[in-house]
Amino acid sequence: MRFDLPSDRIPTAWYNAIPRLPEPMQPPLHPATNEPVGPDDLAPLFPMALIGQEVSAEPWIDIPGEVIDVLRLWRPTPLVRATRLEEELGTPARIYFKDESVSPAGSHKPNTAVAQAFYNKSEGIERLTTETGAGQWGASLAFAAAQYGIELKVYMVRTSYDSKPYRRILMETWGAECVPSPIADPSSPGSLGMAISDAVADAVGRSDSHYALGSVLNHVLLHQTVIGLEAKEQLEKAGETLPDVVLASCGGGSNLAGIAFPFMEDQSVRLVAVEPTSCPTLTQGSFDYDFGDTAGLTPMLPMYTLGHDFMPPSIHAGGLRYHGDSPIVSALVKAGRMEAVAAPQSKVFEAAALFARTEGKLPAPETAHAIRAAIDEALEAKEKGEERVILFNYSGHGFLDLSAYDAFNRGDLIDE
Ligand SMILES: Cc1ncc(COP(=O)(O)O)c(C=O)c1O
Repeated sequence: MRFDLPSDRIPTAWYNAIPRLPEPMQPPLHPATNEPVGPDDLAPLFPMALIGQEVSAEPWIDIPGEVIDVLRLWRPTPLVRATRLEEELGTPARIYFKDESVSPAGSHKPNTAVAQAFYNKSEGIERLTTETGAGQWGASLAFAAAQYGIELKVYMVRTSYDSKPYRRILMETWGAECVPSPIADPSSPGSLGMAISDAVADAVGRSDSHYALGSVLNHVLLHQTVIGLEAKEQLEKAGETLPDVVLASCGGGSNLAGIAFPFMEDQSVRLVAVEPTSCPTLTQGSFDYDFGDTAGLTPMLPMYTLGHDFMPPSIHAGGLRYHGDSPIVSALVKAGRMEAVAAPQSKVFEAAALFARTEGKLPAPETAHAIRAAIDEALEAKEKGEERVILFNYSGHGFLDLSAYDAFNRGDLIDE
């Protein structure tokens, strides 16, 4: 019940959602002037190739051979039908998951980390800075930076830095430097918004440095579309025409985009974002222009937001603790093309434990949000007696999140 593709079936072009959106995107605005930002405004932070991808109207963008060569270390990733979970639920639904946990860093994040490191290196950049929540993105960029010989400094949200040392060790082993954020206030637990401020301020202050973001921006989402492109082909191999519903957890929106965007033109396919009830950006935020970071250094993006000073509770799914969301994902939700649901931490870990016991794999807490929603879809299909085809993104493994499972197993996990 595992559907693999040969290594020569890695996609050779990324799927660009921008020209396929129901309405044209609103531009990002400069934080000082409120005018649309131009390439020169972004040049201190990003290489020109990525700035171009940020606004490109090309439907397909070729993936450089040098990037594919590195992706080949783990891609194409498997598509698996979760038959044991289906049996346990007694559902007529067919549940498939795309296994992005097989990458060197254990999540989907290297798909864009490799591309970003490559384009920076190609334009002569020797040093990158970034933020990370629970460490998945920082570890992924550390791996990618090592592939291209780039120096990397990672600002890690302090609550995760203190409670989850293993991804820091992973980053350091790949050669990156990792410090807790916010650097200016050691008493603060930190947030992704604060860590972005630290990393942007560092990069802007040095001519040898650029900044890399692990989600939210258009080019980041673009690089993740290899996931859905492969999954589409694998579903055909599994004898399915199209899924009825595609689900993924949503922090900034990149793994969701990766699996869902290649299905966005198939109008019969429902696309669903799953977020934590404690950081309910899409389900309870407002659609507005807001800063990507806490300090207000980044351009203002048109997106669903809880406000850039929103301080999310310290839940275990650190990668979902972000006040905003990708502008493309936000536009799709606003237009009604994408749905959003929220789940509380306790229900999410119940789903993760059931998945681990049936399918054997231990998901990252972020990934477990998608599993929760997939199980709820399968149970609804059972109630209605429907043969629903459910596809979700298994965005990462939870081997470095065992303290969260320990808290769940002991009954100590709280919902905030
Ligand atoms: C395993 C995993 N899944 C999901 C996410 C959420 O991020 P995004 O919405 O960009 O996919 C993260 C973020 O760190 C993650 O590590």
